[in-house]
Amino acid sequence: MRRFPVLPSTNVEAANWLLSGYPAEGAAVLAGHQTAGRGQMGNSWHTAAGLNLTLSVIFYPHFLPAIRQFELNQAIALAVRETIAAFSEDTVRIKWPNDILIGKRKICGILIQNSLSGKNLQSSIAGIGINVNQAEFAADLPHAGSLYLLTGRTIDLEAIMQELFAQLEAWYLRLRQGHTPEIRAQYLQHLFRYRESHPYLYPDGSAFSGTIMDVDPTGRLMVATEKGVELFGIKDLAYLL
Ligand code: BTN
Repeated sequence: MRRFPVLPSTNVEAANWLLSGYPAEGAAVLAGHQTAGRGQMGNSWHTAAGLNLTLSVIFYPHFLPAIRQFELNQAIALAVRETIAAFSEDTVRIKWPNDILIGKRKICGILIQNSLSGKNLQSSIAGIGINVNQAEFAADLPHAGSLYLLTGRTIDLEAIMQELFAQLEAWYLRLRQGHTPEIRAQYLQHLFRYRESHPYLYPDGSAFSGTIMDVDPTGRLMVATEKGVELFGIKDLAYLL
């Protein structure tokens, strides 16, 4: 593991490590603070210094065809969900594709960056940002939360990191051993708003009512609407929280 007090982004550092050497599977880059943290869809990821877990873990999922890469997202989301659940009495859910929520508060974001070799995955950088002890969030992040805000307890960052590594190992092994049905079933079991009717927005801002029915093998959300079952990529719908 490489630990840094400050980095631009642990995902960028992990990518540089992959270019300059051959880190072992499970090698991690940890930062006390990030100055240019990356989020999904080109967003940035801001957290307060020293209060949260920000790390990236390197995997070599050579066994996984690229068309099934969402199974890696599912396994990692399940590992992080279980880690957070170990430190909270509340229900912890996965918001598709891989945010982790308690209630409607986002406690963790995950950014997975894959590289391919032929038809299979070559390497994956799983960037994980868990909001642990941060007590205040910017006003423009109304749905951000932390374990501290939701449980009232300060959590030892080393303890939650050890739990995270144990869970990542367990779920990654399940993936490698081909336990796809269990991973899919567990992902749906913990999926936020699964089989409930809620309003969503199309990219043009128009609202519709839909019920999440499933996630297809490529990771698209399958939502029953008045038009039938529609498939959505990450940019194709917005949740209304
Ligand atoms: C998201 O919800 O948009 C994903 C956020 C991912 C943040 C983590 S923090 C550690 C790692 N390094 C980064 O630059 N991003 C990820």
